[in-house]
Amino acid sequence: MAKVTVVGSGNVGATVAQYVAENDLADVVLVDVLEGVPLGKALDLYEASPLHGHDRKLIGSQTYDETKGSDIVVITAGIARKPGMSRDDLLKTNASIVQSVATQAVKQSPDAIFIIVTNPLDVMTYLAWKTTKLPSQRVIGMAGVLDSARFQSFISEALNVSTEDVRCMVLGGHGDLMVPIARYATVNGVPLTELLDADKIEALAKRTREGGAEVVALLKSGSAFYAPGASVALMVEAILRDKRRLLPCAVLPEGHYGLKDLYVGLPAILGKNGVEKIVELKLAADETEALKKSASSIRENIDAMNKLLVTA
Ligand code: APR
Repeated sequence: MAKVTVVGSGNVGATVAQYVAENDLADVVLVDVLEGVPLGKALDLYEASPLHGHDRKLIGSQTYDETKGSDIVVITAGIARKPGMSRDDLLKTNASIVQSVATQAVKQSPDAIFIIVTNPLDVMTYLAWKTTKLPSQRVIGMAGVLDSARFQSFISEALNVSTEDVRCMVLGGHGDLMVPIARYATVNGVPLTELLDADKIEALAKRTREGGAEVVALLKSGSAFYAPGASVALMVEAILRDKRRLLPCAVLPEGHYGLKDLYVGLPAILGKNGVEKIVELKLAADETEALKKSASSIRENIDAMNKLLVTA
């Protein structure tokens, strides 16, 4: 029986637990530092199981004992972005939370695959990789799936076609410099560039880049969680069912796209071992440039975080 631990039982964590159980993917352990909250949410979700017709165990805990032997550990613990706050403002607080969570979780589940959700995403994934000392194939950041789902939604709305038929990938960091690759977007195989003019596509790409902030501005407190939760569940499914899906994820390139020593969103095949392969696409000069720029910004943040952690 597969087991998924979700650390952080806030909006995103609880939504991940919900989708993982409802999609009958695995038993779930919800962990949080808050007293009672992970237990209450796990119990509430468990009580919904007869309604959804699954027999997944859902338990909550304030410690890591129950997480022992997890197949996947999802880290959503941290503070969420508030209106007017950039993702990078979160760096300091979330770095110490992710370090502490990753250290405790990997002790109980040294064979697990880690999926990191806490922002700033690419930097936190790098930190989790460094902290757990796991092979990079087993430490993956969730961002590209979410950013791509947002781009897909906007494309389908603009063309008035089913979201099911829209495929696309957003690469680069999970920030303002993310790189929606419109050239590879299709509607059931038909290139998007044949269906929409360049200005319209750019407008949709811009909305995608600002997708997280658009939700934050509306919610007033807290940030997005339904689409992020569903994105994690999709990655969990790809791994547990060894689907070998090609999905944009934050991964550690080893010279791919001329990049190394950082986590950044690239197309990856996800299967039972985590990242089975990083796929190198032929990018146009402007796309390569945009990816490099995004990677530079991540590297600056990794350097900033390293300085913060040294002085902490
Ligand atoms: N260990 C376990 N849980 C923790 C810890 C810790 N050290 N520190 C904080 N948490 C918990 C909080 O108690 C809270 O319940 O993490 C949870 C975060 O939940 P929310 O505040 O609801 O935030 P959420 O919207 O779920 O976002 C979580 O995902 O998308 C990103 O930017 C977002 O970094 C944020 C993360």
